[in-house]
Amino acid sequence: MDRHFIHFETPELATVVSDTAPPPGPEEVLIAVDHAGINRADLLQRLGLYPPPEDASPIPGLEVAGQVVAVGERCSSLQVGDRVCALTHGGGYASHAIAREDHCLTLPDNLSTEQGAALPEALLTVWYNVMERGQLSAGETVLIHGGSSGIGSIGIQMAAALGANVISTAGSAARCDAVKALGASFVANHREGSLTEQFTDAGYGGSVDVILDIAGGDLMQANLDLAAPDGRIVCIGVMRGMQSEINLATLFMKRLTLTGSTLRRLDTGERARCFTAIRERVWPQVVAGDIRPLVDTIYPLADVLEAHEHMRLGTHFGKLVLDCRTG
Ligand SMILES: NC(=O)c1ccc[n+]([C@@H]2O[C@H](COP(=O)([O-])OP(=O)(O)OC[C@H]3O[C@@H](n4cnc5c(N)ncnc54)[C@H](OP(=O)(O)O)[C@@H]3O)[C@@H](O)[C@H]2O)c1
Repeated sequence: MDRHFIHFETPELATVVSDTAPPPGPEEVLIAVDHAGINRADLLQRLGLYPPPEDASPIPGLEVAGQVVAVGERCSSLQVGDRVCALTHGGGYASHAIAREDHCLTLPDNLSTEQGAALPEALLTVWYNVMERGQLSAGETVLIHGGSSGIGSIGIQMAAALGANVISTAGSAARCDAVKALGASFVANHREGSLTEQFTDAGYGGSVDVILDIAGGDLMQANLDLAAPDGRIVCIGVMRGMQSEINLATLFMKRLTLTGSTLRRLDTGERARCFTAIRERVWPQVVAGDIRPLVDTIYPLADVLEAHEHMRLGTHFGKLVLDCRTG
């Protein structure tokens, strides 16, 4: 089966290359990719700042949606013709991609492949970091930074569906309003004054049970100050900097937990375990339309550099997606 995929000759030169699609391994499926989701990590990989793990495909792209066209001999739940979205171990910016069967979700008729491609990375990241590492429970307050992001927009909806009180941040008044509409009860503008003051004035000082931090840097002390006793802070990104100066006394006075993770380094079994939980506890709400992927713009695969520039500029709301059907 012929396949085309993106190869970055240099960080500023993307070419569409053709070869033969690899056969799936025993527990894998081959997916004819309609759409692939774009993630911040893809931009870093293109620039050489985030090399893929050694066992990963060198082709960029961490999530796809399309149709299963071949199944490995030990696959038991998916068949040729099934519509799925999936987390890939690289290889998503392509007409055909390999995914483990247990890293796929079956798409219902009411979800398009562009919507499907916007889901796997966000669902897994939020599930693992907010629900598992952060141990969020119904009735607790969670601060999800970056409510307008691919991750944050799904995170707000997942946490609200769980029964948590969700608060968030965004970068303009209009974006704060749009994030509120997703289910956040209060949204602070991180480009306007102190976040700690804004949340404290709104009654959230020292009372946030779980915080998902996508930006790091100077946000960390604000996180520590806003956290409730026994609060859990989970850091997954460093857009504001890898270094933070924090007052460690805040940590021990409030018995806080500060943790983090990166999905790319989570092992296969752990990801499969999260997918099982998501299938049972989150996917029914996606199928029912209560959790909605937000697709901002769809780019042809060959325009991947333009799509990456859009993400770098940060003017999108939700996800950016590639149409992989034509090279
Ligand atoms: N560790 C993991 O496993 C994992 C997995 C997926 C993603 N991530 C990380 O999660 C973050 C979001 O990823 P994504 O793919 O959803 O990206 P994205 O859609 O491009 O979102 C970026 C978000 O950051 C906000 N932002 C930009 N500059 C900011 C600043 N200086 N302070 C605070 N917020 C700022 C933007 O919102 P406004 O413009 O409204 O401010 C936007 O919501 C990235 O840092 C990414 O690396 C980590």
